[in-house]
Amino acid sequence: MKYHIVTYGCQMNVHESEKIAGILQTAGYKTVSPLEEADIIVFNTCCIRENAENHAFGNIGALKKLKRQKKELIVAVGGCMVQEEGKAGILKEKFPFIDILFGTHNLNELGALIERKRAQKKAVISVPEERAETEDGILPVRTSYPNAWVNITYGCNNFCTYCIVPYVRGRERSRKKEEILAEVRELVKNGYKEITLLGQNVNSYRDGEVSFPTLLDEIASIEGKFRLRFMTSHPKDFSAELVSVMKKHDKICNLLHLPAQSGSDRILQLMNRRYTREKYLSGVALLKREIPDAEITTDLIVGFPTETEAEFEETLSLVKEAGFSSAFTFIYSPRTGTKAAEMEGQIPEEVSKDRIARLIALVNAQTREKSAGYVGKRVEILCEDYDEKKGLYLGRDERGRMGYFESDKNPIGEFVTLEITRANGISLYGKTV
Ligand code: SAH
Ligand code: SF4
Ligand code: F3S
Repeated sequence: MKYHIVTYGCQMNVHESEKIAGILQTAGYKTVSPLEEADIIVFNTCCIRENAENHAFGNIGALKKLKRQKKELIVAVGGCMVQEEGKAGILKEKFPFIDILFGTHNLNELGALIERKRAQKKAVISVPEERAETEDGILPVRTSYPNAWVNITYGCNNFCTYCIVPYVRGRERSRKKEEILAEVRELVKNGYKEITLLGQNVNSYRDGEVSFPTLLDEIASIEGKFRLRFMTSHPKDFSAELVSVMKKHDKICNLLHLPAQSGSDRILQLMNRRYTREKYLSGVALLKREIPDAEITTDLIVGFPTETEAEFEETLSLVKEAGFSSAFTFIYSPRTGTKAAEMEGQIPEEVSKDRIARLIALVNAQTREKSAGYVGKRVEILCEDYDEKKGLYLGRDERGRMGYFESDKNPIGEFVTLEITRANGISLYGKTV
């Protein structure tokens, strides 16, 4: 039997889909197939912004016909959107053909839900309240070799006023250090060359006395050639200790993804981010002083309720001052149940669209300028894939830049040194040396 998984949202969800694949394989669905040929289709949804939801709604709706033609097909919908207050009911009503609904808190149960569905005609719905259990113990089917994702925390306690994640993912739970170390050791033994530690706020990791820098130090001390990445770091918990661990280990990539969200202190406070522009910039300065070739990427939101033109311009100036090498940029999207959705002074769409266009133009110009600085230099990339269209192999350097090159043999999974001859946006082109 065959399966097909559609994933929306963040890396956390990408990794969760690998766990879903693990559950499906145990349940007898042995191979991945195109959507039309699958015996079970699973949607792993996201609700971080309205357009993420619309996307999923559209794609689930489009299945109606296939489901009518193929009576045996099982359609399952899970992920953050299902865990949102009232959404499971709406999904069931809009799409009565859904067979299984499951929340982020009961991934462990998916196998049992599939069995129940096979045994009965009725739909199976299971969206439990938050539980303390984690997803530990589900063996993922990894799809991103040579990279492997490893959760270190689940959930979030920060309640940024715009964000729905704490409501759909529950309170923060840290995995035990020994379990994480064992998982990474096994991955390295099995040939994975890049480990990415995942958490909504990795720097608040805690297992008894063990803090995030300590955990990172121990993971980076595991023998073997591999790279270590982690995301996402919260500026409020950014510390000198973290910088010194990054500096100590070559294995830890000199890239920090540090979402700033805004350059205005008043907006940061309304967002409940718990740092100031000054504190953010002093963190950046510390990192650059200690590790001069480190780069910083970020997330930025425009059009948060009451944001003025002058405050938006503070975000523009932050982009320059912090010297971001790239950024994910978003228009604020009100999420029901969050504090910001109730705030006065929601910003009209055309104002937000104008702001984001100006922000993207600035970020792109800065990315291009930084990439141009790589021409003539050597970078080590980890080859990940082959681009059919370009006819070139590709991989990323430690700072997240994509490097493209020609090769006679297949170097996927190997470290390759490139001499860069040309740059375009975040992409670099080079020759192997
Ligand atoms: N835990 C991470 C990332 C969370 S989601 C962090 O704290 O940085 C990824 C990004 O989506 C956020 O950094 C934020 O920039 C954006 N985001 C979250 N909620 C949003 C909303 N309601 N509207 C627009 N962007 C949002
Ligand atoms: Fe959302 Fe803030 Fe938690 Fe990130 S830290 S997941 S933005 S509440
Ligand atoms: Fe990720 Fe979206 Fe959920 S960003 S945590 S999949 S709401």
